[in-house]
Amino acid sequence: MSYNRNSPFNDLPNLPPADFTESPEILKQLTKAARYLGELNGLCTSLPDPKLLINTIVLQESKNSSAIENIVTTQDELYKAATEEATTSHAAKEVLSYREALYVGLEKMKSQKNLLLTNTMVEIVQTIKQNESGIRNNSGTALKNAINGEVIYTPPCCEEVLREKLAALEQFINDSDSSPLDPLVKMAFIHYQFEAIHPFADGNGRTGRIVNALYLVQQELLSQPVLYLSSYIVKYKREYYQLLSEVTEKNNWHDWVMYMLTALIETAQLTTKKIRSMLLLKDEYENRMKQTLGSSFSYELLQLMFTMPYLKIELLEKKKIAHRQTASSWLKKLTEAKIVTTQKIGRTTYYINYRLMELLSND
Ligand SMILES: Nc1ncnc2c1ncn2[C@@H]1O[C@H](COP(=O)(O)OP(=O)(O)O)[C@@H](O)[C@H]1O
Ligand SMILES: [Mg+2]
Repeated sequence: MSYNRNSPFNDLPNLPPADFTESPEILKQLTKAARYLGELNGLCTSLPDPKLLINTIVLQESKNSSAIENIVTTQDELYKAATEEATTSHAAKEVLSYREALYVGLEKMKSQKNLLLTNTMVEIVQTIKQNESGIRNNSGTALKNAINGEVIYTPPCCEEVLREKLAALEQFINDSDSSPLDPLVKMAFIHYQFEAIHPFADGNGRTGRIVNALYLVQQELLSQPVLYLSSYIVKYKREYYQLLSEVTEKNNWHDWVMYMLTALIETAQLTTKKIRSMLLLKDEYENRMKQTLGSSFSYELLQLMFTMPYLKIELLEKKKIAHRQTASSWLKKLTEAKIVTTQKIGRTTYYINYRLMELLSND
């Protein structure tokens, strides 16, 4: 097959790859990946309120997945934005939309008999981009090297072809009976294929990474879409791009699958570690807050501090956790006890769960 980077890759074959075999090296990584994913999933299912701790992890994933696309926001800016209804930072907004898109996709999948369909992917990209984008009907979309402007890859064209390829991908994703492949290997295949089809004008990388998380939930390997995969990809972004190209140009599935399995192994361990540290910190804070607030201790306040590490008085009122006066007195006491630190921006005082912020920052 002659391949030319500069013309639309309409010859992109459907999955599965014709001559792929699981080498001993891949089998070894698969065993490891399954073990660490299992451990993470066990921890998630044992959490009393899984959504609570996971919300911040998912926001970390959103931050990194967006950073791969050069949408960069600082940790502080992002968590501040999560507390506000309106935020001025464009990047922070797009990261928050990413998190929303992950949950929108999850709900959509659950409402469609657990199937991951083309329309789910469209809804995901629309939520990320907060617009009505749909399947591309134009050529001229090419991936270029950001430094020298050279074309790296030209995806297929146009809408009809893209829809056909997406339909075949949909079939491959949802038909688990006819394929003897390990679901984790399938995930790597699906991610490549989605990126190679590149069905949207923008948002393909991010949508494809959300699809990874949803696929693990669909396959019941995770009960929550918690995997922090992009923390690995952002660190090894050059290889990520390189290996996607090598599948197209050299049929090098082996190294691509190894890359994704290694990413799974490392990030499953990292996510487990983070959740464990958060649980310990939450216990510590529960004790200290009971001492500080005595009989007025509020479990809802503790929970909120671990979902939104930037608190403000109005937020406690809005969430109907306390009236203004009580909220203000609690936060003052927590500041004096150094459980939170304060930061004043304009007329708003934020009360920051700074230990959680520290914990989330170090990867
Ligand atoms: N050679 C390649 N072949 C196919 N896909 C690629 C290749 N190189 C990079 N990609 C994918 O393209 C994504 C960027 O596409 P884009 O639509 O801009 O996504 P986003 O809007 O989320 O930034 C990358 O994150 C990567 O997943
Ligand atoms: Mg982009």
